[in-house]
Amino acid sequence: MSSAKKPNVSVIIVPLFLITLVFFGFLYHVYLNDAAVPILPYYELTQDNCTPYSLCKENIGIPQRSGPVLEAKARRLPRALIIGFNKCGSAAWRSFLSIHPDIVSPTLELRFFTENHKLGLEWYRSQMPLSTSNQITIEKTPRYIRSVESLRRIYEFNPDVKLLVIVRNPVSRLQSEYAHEMAKLPETSNISFTDWIYRNPFEGFVTYWSDYASTIRRAFSVFPHHQFLVVSEEDLEKDPVSVVKQAEMFLKLRPAVTNDVFVFNETKGFYCFNTSHPFFPSVLENHEVDVMSGCMIETKGRDHPSLDANLLHRIVNTSLPYVRDLFRLIHKQFDWKYYNKYIQEAC
Ligand SMILES: *[C@@H]1O[C@H](CO)[C@@H](O)[C@H](O)[C@H]1NC(C)=O
Ligand SMILES: *[C@@H]1O[C@H](CO)[C@@H](O)[C@H](O)[C@H]1NC(C)=O
Ligand SMILES: *[C@@H]1O[C@H](CO)[C@@H](O)[C@H](O)[C@H]1NC(C)=O
Ligand SMILES: *[C@@H]1O[C@H](CO)[C@@H](O)[C@H](O)[C@H]1NC(C)=O
Repeated sequence: MSSAKKPNVSVIIVPLFLITLVFFGFLYHVYLNDAAVPILPYYELTQDNCTPYSLCKENIGIPQRSGPVLEAKARRLPRALIIGFNKCGSAAWRSFLSIHPDIVSPTLELRFFTENHKLGLEWYRSQMPLSTSNQITIEKTPRYIRSVESLRRIYEFNPDVKLLVIVRNPVSRLQSEYAHEMAKLPETSNISFTDWIYRNPFEGFVTYWSDYASTIRRAFSVFPHHQFLVVSEEDLEKDPVSVVKQAEMFLKLRPAVTNDVFVFNETKGFYCFNTSHPFFPSVLENHEVDVMSGCMIETKGRDHPSLDANLLHRIVNTSLPYVRDLFRLIHKQFDWKYYNKYIQEAC
């Protein structure tokens, strides 16, 4: 009798143990990936509409269910970050990327990996817009790239995060910084671009705004190269669709952005959103987009100061080694006026 009882007990205990194990394993898995992802209802996902494998790992092991696609919106932590650079068009890039139906992005710079780190990950998550599980969230704080401490925090947060970087012709970047500073001052305190430059120690100042390479090289010591996409503001300005397409490929999103999403505005001299395009309503949460014209509200397109020829030559001369260094580092060359003739000679 007693020998017949034993197998009966294990018949109950063993499956019970396995079920418990699987259940807690599943809970842990969900917790690890994104606590805000609702367990039910499942969003129907196939490898086809899934963003890249690495971005989709939260779906692996979650049972899939056929039936109608259900909207399961939640606030999700970013899987890609725009980490630099200041005064290089990162706001326009973020805005242009957010036209993609699979991208959501908070409008504000959250500075979480720099000064707001103490507010905690749940605060960071609470700042994110709602998204479905096949959309990715992109946060932009251009100062992240300058702080190794913040890059290390990002690595700790997610070593697989994709990093987007935008750079700009150093001369235009200086002009943009100048215009930005003058706009903050009362009219009477205006000084010319030349005076502004020479108010600072020339070499150090120009180097500060030109040396993208050292900063990117430092970031390469924290994250592998393949997790970075470096684009240029000039390309974004000339051909926003091609730059957004680079990001689509890099983030392994479906190709959705086509030429008719943007229209060139002759008055502004810039591309603006096509306000009649069906994607346009999704960018209206961006307070930097003008609802009527579809253009960036920010003082984009304000005139850059004219340049004194001698000063221009000095700036280019000082910054050229850093531009060369950048192009070598990222294995890419941008179409930057003033620099092209020197760079092409070198090749
Ligand atoms: C001061 O700066 C503003 C904006 O940059 C410009 O429109 C204005 O002409 C400048 N005034 C002088 C006196 O330079
Ligand atoms: C703007 O979008 C509408 C609707 O998709 C389209 O018919 C039109 O051709 C687009 N305009 C441009 C200039 O591409
Ligand atoms: C171009 O932009 C200006 C200023 O934002 C706007 O008033 C105008 O309507 C736009 N033109 C077109 C054709 O959209
Ligand atoms: C930059 O200046 C140095 C001397 O100051 C000169 O030797 C060099 O030829 C200049 N380069 C360019 C590109 O003008």
